[in-house]
Amino acid sequence: MNYDFTSVIDRKGRDAYAVDWIGKEPGIAPEVPDEGFDCIPMWVADMNFPVAPPIVEALTERIRHPLFGYFELSERYFEAIIRWQERSRRVRDLRAEHIYMDNGVMGGLISALKVLCSPGDPVLLHAPVYRGFKDTLHLCGYHIVYSRLIQDENHVWRMDFADMEKRISENGIHTAILCSPHNPCGRVWEREELLEAMELFRKYEVFVVADEIWSDLIFKGHRHIPVQSISEDAKNRTVSLYAPTKTFNLAGITGSYRIVYNSWLRDRIEKEAEMTFYNNKNVLSMHALIGAYSPESEPWVEELCRVLEANMGYACTYIRKYFPGVSVAEPEGTYMLFIDCGRWCQIHKKTLDEVLKAGWRVGVGWQDGRLFEADCHIRLNLAMPFVRVQEAFRRLRAYVFC
Ligand SMILES: Cc1ncc(COP(=O)(O)O)c(C=O)c1O
Repeated sequence: MNYDFTSVIDRKGRDAYAVDWIGKEPGIAPEVPDEGFDCIPMWVADMNFPVAPPIVEALTERIRHPLFGYFELSERYFEAIIRWQERSRRVRDLRAEHIYMDNGVMGGLISALKVLCSPGDPVLLHAPVYRGFKDTLHLCGYHIVYSRLIQDENHVWRMDFADMEKRISENGIHTAILCSPHNPCGRVWEREELLEAMELFRKYEVFVVADEIWSDLIFKGHRHIPVQSISEDAKNRTVSLYAPTKTFNLAGITGSYRIVYNSWLRDRIEKEAEMTFYNNKNVLSMHALIGAYSPESEPWVEELCRVLEANMGYACTYIRKYFPGVSVAEPEGTYMLFIDCGRWCQIHKKTLDEVLKAGWRVGVGWQDGRLFEADCHIRLNLAMPFVRVQEAFRRLRAYVFC
């Protein structure tokens, strides 16, 4: 390994919600572990790895010039995004005018929804669902209509196109959110799946917000297909949201960007984003992206994906071997593992709350799957040094699934 994916770094008291918020948010955060167990943070979607060296260099270089006044996005910022999109996704027609910086994907999502629909309108989402979508849409008054993903005979999560069509037509839906790759299910949608979904959206005139924040974290044998690359129609009915924050562990610095080809949508969304003033640019976020999307960061991302894939492989094999009754769909990307404890709970006459708490007591800081609209599931973040994953699964075997 060329980069540091093995050091166990103590994040306590160093601005880490995943660590410092343990025991402070009942129902959301894990409870404080029993004496003798440290907490392994497996709930919040950030990584326990130091960032890629070019990011530190870019930030350090900028901080050495100690003036941080108002600024405009530089050409280097747009060039970095255009280059990254071309290198990693073969996007060839992206220009600076299609790109807007947001301070976060959720902000970008809401700015887009304000144009595509109004409070009370139905919005199609898949369930299981990323909790942030659910909470943000509720807060802003949109009516969520779920179409459930279903697992095929190989446990692969699939869209249920017949159900999507029924819900779209019955509810008069004209806006959908597509999470690609999917959190928490770890699906990297295949071209045929996206084609079918986008054809359905075309048929019913549904505009799409594609959240592609996870699209750099893809495992061998899979490829991220940008939703806008599916067809000319998809390109014009989709607002795509990207960010370096998941890939490079920069959530605390914030920053994402929108790609919108349709000029009407683009101008309308820009107006909504600017109206609230929430979206003022952050100069360090810009420089972090320039470092992150530099050619020198590419091998870091490749190595990260191999590390995450190995952690996932280890966890899935371990579950199949030692936790009979717990079922798992092997993720194709992301660093989230979503396990189904339904049968295990049935066999052992336990509730999901009992299982969750048993994990928390021994420092396995995992997260309740009901927050993601899934019964009897638990979500685990595996973006941490392998020894910590090993330790978490050792504790689960010794104290929880025993
Ligand atoms: C699918 C998805 N979208 C968006 C976000 C958060 O993005 P941001 O912090 O830029 O709002 C997350 C974080 O976990 C996520 O999983």
